[in-house]
Amino acid sequence: MPEREQDQNPFVLVLFGATGDLAKRKLFPALYELFIAGLLNRRFAVVGIGRSPISRPDFQAGVRRSVTNFSRHSLRDGQSWTDFADHFDFVSIDVNDPGGYGAVRELVEAKEREWEIPGNRLFYLAMPPDLFGTVSAHLKKSGLTETGGWKRLVIEKPFGHDHASAKQLNEQIQQSFVEDEIYRIDHYLGKEMVQNIEVIRFANSLFEPLWNNRYIANIQVTASETVGVEERAAYYERAGALRDMVQNHILQMMMMVAMEPPSRLDMEAIRDEKVKVLRSLRRFSEDEVNRYVVRGQYTAGTVLGQAVPGYREERNVAPDSATETFVAAKLFVDNFRWAGVPFFIRTGKRMAQKVTEIVIQFKEMPNIYFNKNGDLSPNLLIIRINPTEGMYLLMNAKKPGADSEVIPVAMEFCNNCEIESPEAYERLLHEAIQGDSTFFTRWDEVSLAWQFADPIRRAWDRDASLLLTYPAGSWGPAAADQLLAQDGAHWWPVYDPKSRPVVQPIERPGIFAGRY
Ligand code: BG6
Repeated sequence: MPEREQDQNPFVLVLFGATGDLAKRKLFPALYELFIAGLLNRRFAVVGIGRSPISRPDFQAGVRRSVTNFSRHSLRDGQSWTDFADHFDFVSIDVNDPGGYGAVRELVEAKEREWEIPGNRLFYLAMPPDLFGTVSAHLKKSGLTETGGWKRLVIEKPFGHDHASAKQLNEQIQQSFVEDEIYRIDHYLGKEMVQNIEVIRFANSLFEPLWNNRYIANIQVTASETVGVEERAAYYERAGALRDMVQNHILQMMMMVAMEPPSRLDMEAIRDEKVKVLRSLRRFSEDEVNRYVVRGQYTAGTVLGQAVPGYREERNVAPDSATETFVAAKLFVDNFRWAGVPFFIRTGKRMAQKVTEIVIQFKEMPNIYFNKNGDLSPNLLIIRINPTEGMYLLMNAKKPGADSEVIPVAMEFCNNCEIESPEAYERLLHEAIQGDSTFFTRWDEVSLAWQFADPIRRAWDRDASLLLTYPAGSWGPAAADQLLAQDGAHWWPVYDPKSRPVVQPIERPGIFAGRY
């Protein structure tokens, strides 16, 4: 990552949805953080686009509010608010009306002259996905995509709702932008520890030799949330956890863990290796789904001490909704490295804790020496992504003072205990401006991920009886535990940020239980 201001690309950000939630909560604060960190070239402009007519000063005041409410830092010495705000302009158009794009073009060209920007345009569509095709077609027709520099399109998920719709959308977009110019955001790829997985794997001689089915028993990926469906029922009712989290974020994390070392550390080589994981990912037939995938929906319960309603009682949710708010699955990557190693995944809303983490469980020691009774804890490498960022390596050692008592001990590295990591959007926005698409999803990844998810969705749509329930505040339906129990495994308890990271004596032999 270039760290000097003069190494940063000058650009115009043409931001659709500039008065929306994403711009307010994530994008303006991200731009601001990059600005104060010297990671934006001073020759930049933001042309915000929205439907309601807003004056330039009002738009800038809105940007200021969002920065005040959501940024990590305040201005540094010598920096003034107007130095930042001067770069922001607004134009109001109806994005469905091709007539409006002339005004956008004029403003963009004026800003390029004013800030001496060589026609580098980043079109960011922070808007409902059903508009992606229309907007990209109008961008081309209006001549906005003819630039003297580069052009790039940044789009948010969901990218379609199944393989057919994603393919159609992709074909529409590719009328105006080639694949290299399309930056599909999966914000999990912007998370510090997700990006760190390749470093942990490929910068440590300790792990890579063990990173295979000879030494690893299973891998567990958890992305649990305590929030419910919030204000997004209209979207979530049609998406469900499979489309909302598994098809994208969970599979992306799996790819980072399971990929082969790339031939070079460059964006295409890395994405080539990630895509191979999806090619080897076992696809379940509709009849097999029930054996490997569990779906659940939350009922009323207590989350973090607060009573909360069940999913079907949430606003704008159908009283007989069959939408899943939880998915657990046992997946397999059928290649030479991973054959036979189950990847257990789980994600859900209204669960006991907000946690994203990956547990690599190593194989057990033979039943000799200290493991005669088979009660020694296996070694675990835990990659913590949220809320704590770091790594945790669990080993066995002699209990101090005891003759032969063995206890699990931990080596912990905390990434965000001392320094605050940048937000995913800061990193992703910066990478898009710099033209680094390593941590954006390529079309073949999206396509294969849908081809994996579609049969599961079809099986569920066919048979609503596969929907289980779980009380809000729990870890999901019991069937999610049985999925592992069949293999003699169990979910490892997730780290509780409130408790000190100290290994507790084992409650049940062989399992280090409760807290670390
Ligand atoms: C989004 C999903 O992509 O990710 C949301 O649409 C979910 O439903 C969110 O809440 C979780 O992201 P994070 O970064 O809070 O784990």
